[in-house]
Amino acid sequence: MIVLGIETSCDETSAAVVQTSDDARATLRSMVIVSQDVHRLFGGVVPEIASRAHLTSLVPAVRQALADAHVTPAELDGVAVTHGPGLVGALLVGVSWAKAYAATIEKPVIGVHHMEGHLFAPSLEDPDAEPPFTALLVSGGHTLLLDVPAWGDYHQLGATRDDAAGEAFDKVAKLLGLPYPGGPHIEQLAATVASASDVPKAYRFTKPLTHGGQRLGDADYFDVSFSGLKTAVLNAVRAAEANGTRDAGRPLIARGFQDALIGTLAEKVARAVSAHGRKRVVLGGGVAGNRALVSAIQARVGATVVVHAPSARLATDNAGMIAAVGAWRLSRGESSGDELAAYASLPLR
Ligand code: KG4
Ligand code: ZN
Repeated sequence: MIVLGIETSCDETSAAVVQTSDDARATLRSMVIVSQDVHRLFGGVVPEIASRAHLTSLVPAVRQALADAHVTPAELDGVAVTHGPGLVGALLVGVSWAKAYAATIEKPVIGVHHMEGHLFAPSLEDPDAEPPFTALLVSGGHTLLLDVPAWGDYHQLGATRDDAAGEAFDKVAKLLGLPYPGGPHIEQLAATVASASDVPKAYRFTKPLTHGGQRLGDADYFDVSFSGLKTAVLNAVRAAEANGTRDAGRPLIARGFQDALIGTLAEKVARAVSAHGRKRVVLGGGVAGNRALVSAIQARVGATVVVHAPSARLATDNAGMIAAVGAWRLSRGESSGDELAAYASLPLR
């Protein structure tokens, strides 16, 4: 089966072609990602600019993806498109285009949940990244801890109570005067500090919601919260400004923040792995491109559990992961009807 995937939920316009073999293994034949750098000027994504940019980039992106894959429209078995969650104006561009295109080539269209796409991303690079597994999805808008016994069977264990992990990276980056999106900049700056023990006590931030008294069944056992950590960083930055040590302190603050955030995530993943007896962990979303996060989780769960993390290109938003979900769902006989629409929020099921 050969499927065209379309992703326009935020600020990347992406088109990709995925092919599945008889044993349902998905291979990425081509992928084009057009990133909208303009949002850097505003320190965050401006929805209307994102929608307009999708409108101009989508057709050339699809044309290029089909050419790179050496696939003609007639050879496609279907079109998969992100229909939520995301910026509704941005989603509408992809969904309306995909519906019209599928109708024209007389092939089925299927709406794909963006976070299910992130779950499938590692499987495009690594055939062992298959359920059953524990999953941690960490992006700019979401932080979800899931138990996944099988594709299509998603049990949410925990989520963020306030800021998403990527949002926390972006906000702290802003406090430290780093460009948007801040995650990769924080990671680089934090990596200039050789060891966690080099971080002074003032910048060793508490790992939120991880105190030892928590037990399975407690409401906060799997949930995370990052707004308190962000406030602690803000206070540290203000104190450093007041005593003239802000510049020297920036790498140490970045490292202290990153250690606290990834320490929290590693602890929650380890709890989910042992609660469900899983032997695999799948990571997804932009923050999963953070190498320190991946190593911290691997160290925390131990060598008997394999951690599957996507490469940076497949960790951030891309249409390959959407096509992979679409191919799996279409091969089960699912497709969306004329009522396919776009949703700002959408439950994962
Ligand atoms: O999944 P994604 O591309 O888009 C959303 O669906 O939100 O995630 C983007 C987020 C941004 O907040 C960005 O700062 C963060 O992922 N990010 C990182 C890294 N690369 C991207 N955060 C930490 N470390 C990174 N290396
Ligand atoms: Zn995403």
